[in-house]
Amino acid sequence: MCGIVGYIGKKQAAPILLEGLKKLEYRGYDSAGIAVRGEQGIEVVKTPGRLSNLVEKTAGGALLKGTVGIGHTRWATHGGPSECNAHPHCSADGAVTVVHNGILENFRELKEKLKKSGYEFGSETDTEVIAALIGYYYSKCGDPLRAISRFMRRARGAYALAVLFRDFKDEIFISRKDSPMIVGVGEGEMFIASDVPAILNHTRTVYYVDNLEMARLCADGVVFYHADGEVTEKEPVTVDMDPSAAEKDGWEHFMIKEIHEQPRAVSETFHRYVQGGKIDFSEAGVEEDILKPSHIVIVGCGSAYHVGAVLQYVIEELARIPVRVELASEFRYRNFIFEENTLVVAVSQSGETADTLAAVREAKAHGVKTLAIVNVQGSSIAREADYTLFTVAGAEIAVATTKAYSAQLIVGYLLALEFARLNGKMGEKEYASALAEIDSLPEKMKKILDSKAEYQKFAAEHLGVHDVFMIGRGVDYAVCMEGALKLKEVSYVHTEAYAAGELKHGTISLIEEGTLVVGVLSRDSIAEKTASNLEEVVSRGANVVSLVREGCSAQHSQPGTVWTVPSVAECFAASLLVLPLQLLSYYVSVQLGHDVDKPRNLAKSVTVE
Ligand code: G6P
Repeated sequence: MCGIVGYIGKKQAAPILLEGLKKLEYRGYDSAGIAVRGEQGIEVVKTPGRLSNLVEKTAGGALLKGTVGIGHTRWATHGGPSECNAHPHCSADGAVTVVHNGILENFRELKEKLKKSGYEFGSETDTEVIAALIGYYYSKCGDPLRAISRFMRRARGAYALAVLFRDFKDEIFISRKDSPMIVGVGEGEMFIASDVPAILNHTRTVYYVDNLEMARLCADGVVFYHADGEVTEKEPVTVDMDPSAAEKDGWEHFMIKEIHEQPRAVSETFHRYVQGGKIDFSEAGVEEDILKPSHIVIVGCGSAYHVGAVLQYVIEELARIPVRVELASEFRYRNFIFEENTLVVAVSQSGETADTLAAVREAKAHGVKTLAIVNVQGSSIAREADYTLFTVAGAEIAVATTKAYSAQLIVGYLLALEFARLNGKMGEKEYASALAEIDSLPEKMKKILDSKAEYQKFAAEHLGVHDVFMIGRGVDYAVCMEGALKLKEVSYVHTEAYAAGELKHGTISLIEEGTLVVGVLSRDSIAEKTASNLEEVVSRGANVVSLVREGCSAQHSQPGTVWTVPSVAECFAASLLVLPLQLLSYYVSVQLGHDVDKPRNLAKSVTVE
């Protein structure tokens, strides 16, 4: 979502801030701004739209002199994406300058109070209220940390804040609650950022700021404090993220680069946990007891939820343990009835999605064990869940996830195998053959990627389509959910996933001449039924595509276009079936001229509700 960068050292701050913000562009934003402390005080420059506008306005940062600064890319929540609403925001007296990620939930109430005491606001944002309130407390006590601490006591909601105080020339102050923030350590210089890629070109030594913590940075170091003002001790860690992950490496877009990285992501994730024909989760401290639940609840948002939808079928089929999949945003408020010996599995690429984090907390509050499948080391969910299994997808930059989704499936499959083994539902032979099937996925994925021209051509021929339905049963339906999300989020073409058997109960009335229907057919026992549903839409004028697993009984005699993926055990077919749908989405978006890596209105990591 929004991005924060800060610098304090000996170099000119503005170009470093702009470079860091560029690295955070992928998170999604619609305006940007920086504040730099110059000789004349704190200078703020902001622009609506793309970061390039800010780069132009500041001549690449050259116009702002000064070695201390903070920067921000804003994804509008309170107030539209205008220059006035862009961050940084200052208190009316100019004493305090703030950038903020998150949402201050009680901002209306606080704003009204400040207004009553004569304060005038220039923007519609909750962030200006934060600047005003910290400014108010600061005017009473003259102490930055006490002012921030008092703000934290009053604030409800999520925030990561970077604050410049006019009277403290060589310091940056930060604080956070439920929104990520890191501190990077350089030689005689310090960095802050909401996300590691922003500072990876400068340092790999970082501190993860904990929830309800504050920090005070100068060029030579940082001191951390609890929200109550007490000093806390912490050790920096070395991040092992590859900086080239945030580069396109000759690819036209991150999305297509990441689609092609899937065989590697799947293979590395598999080999992280499988050695010598055995699955080993001991690095995460996962012991056998944890893998013997009576009930499993999988929570996630967006594509991570769709991973859960696949895993529900796979786990129930292999391990015969009942699984529920819940949207994290629903689960957290529904007063869930936890059965005894339930395991909650939280799936998240970023590890920062507000609702998924809240779902983990909700489960823990009920004494339920939580296991997370996360891509980003050091992220909030990774730190708060009882156990975390990491995917090895590498940094994912395109907003629409591809390689993280695929890597999450692999961890899920391995969990399913362990659940099955420990529940006495899988013998050694089946276990070994299932592992071999999963291990075969990367090579089969490469074959699909080799025939990408087919999907590119199809996309070019169907650019005018207005409505797309993707239908299937079981795991095939779960694949449709992900395929439909992919197509609509990057191409803006209306697409719906439907359980094939449900289409007749109303939605078939939307099928007309030229509607595109993609049927996913990978399961021998039910493929014929979906095939019949495809015939029904063909007779109502739809163009159809059948996406079929090679060797599936439905492979032949399908109407319309047929796309085939290599043969694989039915349970793991989702990993292959999703690729043609990702490629279709990518090519439709690009050919329609959309910004495929940063689709409108979307954010990579949704850190607010
Ligand atoms: C956003 C992204 C989606 C992602 C979802 C969950 O909406 O645009 O691609 O699936 O958040 O993100 P997470 O980081 O928790 O996997």
